[in-house]
Amino acid sequence: MSRPTARVVHLVSRPVGEPTTANFAFLDEPVPPLAAGEALVENIHQSVDPYMREEMDETGGWLLNAPLEGRALGRVVESRAPALPVGTLVHHRRAWRTLSVVTPGETLVLPDLPGVPFSAHLGILGGTGLSAWVGLTRIARLRPDETVFVSAAAGGVGTAAGRIARLLGAGRIVGSTGSAAKVRYLTEHVGFDAAFDRHDGPVADLLREAAPDGLHVCLDNVGGDHLEAAIGVMRDHGRIAWCGAVAQYNSLQAPPPAPRNLFDVVGRSLRLEGFLVRDHLDARPELYDFLVPHLRSGAVRPDETVVRGFEHVVDAFLGMLRGANTGKMLVQLTDGPRRSGPAA
Ligand SMILES: NC(=O)c1ccc[n+]([C@@H]2O[C@H](COP(=O)([O-])OP(=O)(O)OC[C@H]3O[C@@H](n4cnc5c(N)ncnc54)[C@H](OP(=O)(O)O)[C@@H]3O)[C@@H](O)[C@H]2O)c1
Repeated sequence: MSRPTARVVHLVSRPVGEPTTANFAFLDEPVPPLAAGEALVENIHQSVDPYMREEMDETGGWLLNAPLEGRALGRVVESRAPALPVGTLVHHRRAWRTLSVVTPGETLVLPDLPGVPFSAHLGILGGTGLSAWVGLTRIARLRPDETVFVSAAAGGVGTAAGRIARLLGAGRIVGSTGSAAKVRYLTEHVGFDAAFDRHDGPVADLLREAAPDGLHVCLDNVGGDHLEAAIGVMRDHGRIAWCGAVAQYNSLQAPPPAPRNLFDVVGRSLRLEGFLVRDHLDARPELYDFLVPHLRSGAVRPDETVVRGFEHVVDAFLGMLRGANTGKMLVQLTDGPRRSGPAA
């Protein structure tokens, strides 16, 4: 019986500084016959994420000329796994290919959430939104009426954090981003009270202007000058949830200097705590309970930039690192359901 062919992407060289398309290659690979317990998934959406830049380095997890790891949503099209019948919609981590062979143990069958946009499973309801939820609720313990700063606010985690903070009753929500258009998007569509373009001056000055009464909470996605600025503007007993450091992923050898005001953490009794979302997957039901009614009603809509066509997956990844996205950067490989659930 003839077998389908998967289009796949491999890493073929390691970047120094900013990665380029030359670091990747597209290949065609025949899909082998399924073994018992395996299923074949046609991928519908793929996520491209900042952490992947770290995976590209010698010290990262990605091997050269080998399958790459990444999150995807897809539909089972062939199965020898009773738990994954044909037609099942799943989340898995064997992205960077059009067709993936998976087993039930490494696959999440998507919950039935009628009326919820399907792609939200990779964005605001996926690891991206979960990072925002965990950072704000478990790490920083945001309380109503507090002032919160979110860095890289117009990205996937940032927009989710802004929307969640608003629903949690935050007082003032302030964000940093990379363009005037994104500043407008944050204040006009996402619910931020103030936002600034990080290119418009020293971040410390821009943040102080946007949060003149100081910050109770910071969710930092950038590190470097953003973290230093946040420490400088925190109120006594403020809490910083350190989520990521996108400012340094391209500069492994020479990362931006650590905050020079780190000792203010002591002087103002601050709490600075890093976290990885993978240690908080048990929070997913909380996130669903909190957000699904708002997604269903349309009160919250996922913020996404969707690049169409698997042939553009590398461009989408490189673009995301440069800030080409507003909201979560996703690649749409093929037509899929627009909404979750049986009515999809
Ligand atoms: N701890 C965890 O478990 C966890 C989980 C998920 C994500 N994260 C982290 O959360 C952060 C955001 O991830 P995401 O998936 O939502 O990505 P994202 O924010 O959607 O995309 C990355 C954004 O970073 C901004 N950026 C790029 N270079 C920058 C620089 N030098 N300084 C400041 N901003 C820069 C760009 O936006 P602008 O043009 O607006 O600046 C770009 O759109 C990343 O640091 C990521 O590693 C952590």
